[in-house]
Amino acid sequence: MELDFMRIVPSIPFILKGIQVTLQIVALAAILGFILGVFLALFKVSKVKPLMWLADFYTSIFRGTPLVLQLMIIFYGSPQLIGYQIDGYTAAVLSFGLNSAAYISEIIRAGIQAVDKGQMEAATALGIPYKKTMKDLIIPQAMKNILPALMNEFITLTKESAIVTVIGVTDIMRRTYIVGSDLYSFFEPMLFAGLIYYVLVMILTFAGKAVERKLSAHD
Ligand code: ARG
Repeated sequence: MELDFMRIVPSIPFILKGIQVTLQIVALAAILGFILGVFLALFKVSKVKPLMWLADFYTSIFRGTPLVLQLMIIFYGSPQLIGYQIDGYTAAVLSFGLNSAAYISEIIRAGIQAVDKGQMEAATALGIPYKKTMKDLIIPQAMKNILPALMNEFITLTKESAIVTVIGVTDIMRRTYIVGSDLYSFFEPMLFAGLIYYVLVMILTFAGKAVERKLSAHD
């Protein structure tokens, strides 16, 4: 196997600049997905039928179609949907955020339902309002249990973000592709991109483990 990494050295700063683009999209999408996911999860456990249906329908749509399709529908459809062309960056944050909310809502729903039923019953018996019980008792416990699953979701999001390359956003992947086209050689740049994604995911993994340890120290 012939490998010549020296060829990509001059292009390394160009590829590395994509890290910021990737991280920004992932971070914003994660925040959007999390906030929306919490509300969807609350709808799902609310026992109010229309809210449950709405949240389930939402999840079925975003989980039932490919993310790359959702990205393209939002990007190419924006002139017809909202009257003007949004940029690729915004389309990426929106589609990843909306998509992730579907998955996150399921993670949180499962987490809420895993909290012992007796706690809700006790709080209700003590006359604590539903909203307050959820916010101060159930959700904080659920959060701790779902942390590993949530971390998994953020890792997925980080890797899936590479598909923004199809709408021209200059993330790590797109930049790597550009360098490959310049050099007429894709193998080394792609291996380098793989290394970057791997390191990013490792950092996320360690960060997640650290938070987990911190939370379990409070037990
Ligand atoms: N490749 C999958 C799809 O297109 C990934 C979906 C995103 N997954 C996630 N956990 N947010 O459907």
